[in-house]
Amino acid sequence: MDGNGRWARERGHPRIRGHRAGAESVRATVEACGDLGVEFLTLYAFSSENWKRPEGEVQALMGLLERFLKEKTTEMAERNVRLQAIGRLTQLPQRCQKALHRAIERTADNTGLTVVLALSYGGREEIIDAVKSLVHHVQAGHLDPAMIDPDVFSKHLYTRYYPDPDLLIRTSGELRLSNFLLWQISYAEIHVTPKLWPDFGKQELYDAVADFSRRQRRFGGLTEG
Ligand code: IPE
Ligand code: MG
Repeated sequence: MDGNGRWARERGHPRIRGHRAGAESVRATVEACGDLGVEFLTLYAFSSENWKRPEGEVQALMGLLERFLKEKTTEMAERNVRLQAIGRLTQLPQRCQKALHRAIERTADNTGLTVVLALSYGGREEIIDAVKSLVHHVQAGHLDPAMIDPDVFSKHLYTRYYPDPDLLIRTSGELRLSNFLLWQISYAEIHVTPKLWPDFGKQELYDAVADFSRRQRRFGGLTEG
């Protein structure tokens, strides 16, 4: 979800106004995914690297997250949305962790769209954490290193309960992955839109899905027929 700062600057607003507008795009995207019958939506909300931003912006973002979780959980629950989170969540302020866990608990039994918030998330950090977990299992004698293959490895990632993404949408025209789901997006189709995140709405999501549906996916093999 990139481009909040640029969106605000274009309007002569402080950056936080862009982040606030971005929260509205989250709502629209969650709704659109629910309507389309998408099963999993992962939102890159705050990266491991975002901690390097000025303290004021980090605090404002954490405040927004807490408010978002408190205000939107009821709406998500009504839409049968299940909320989940990935990342080094214990690095978040206590108040955010509390609001997050409450939202996760409240929506745990929902059967519609699963929204996964990536918070204090980094793909490299996730891979390191998976390696540590594997080493731990090997040392405890529960795992034979010869058995480690992509499936076993995947089971030690934060995303072990979710399928790999089919489609990766990148906003604000940037052509990089920025440490997002590095392992999981091996065969994801990539859709880059110049739209800044606060300008991303239902129509933009539908456009991305339409673009995706025109792709021929071969997963390294040959197209049949
Ligand atoms: C993305 O918008 C939001 C977060 C990283 C939380 P940015 O804040 O990165 O916006 P730009 O890149 O400065 O426009
Ligand atoms: Mg950015």
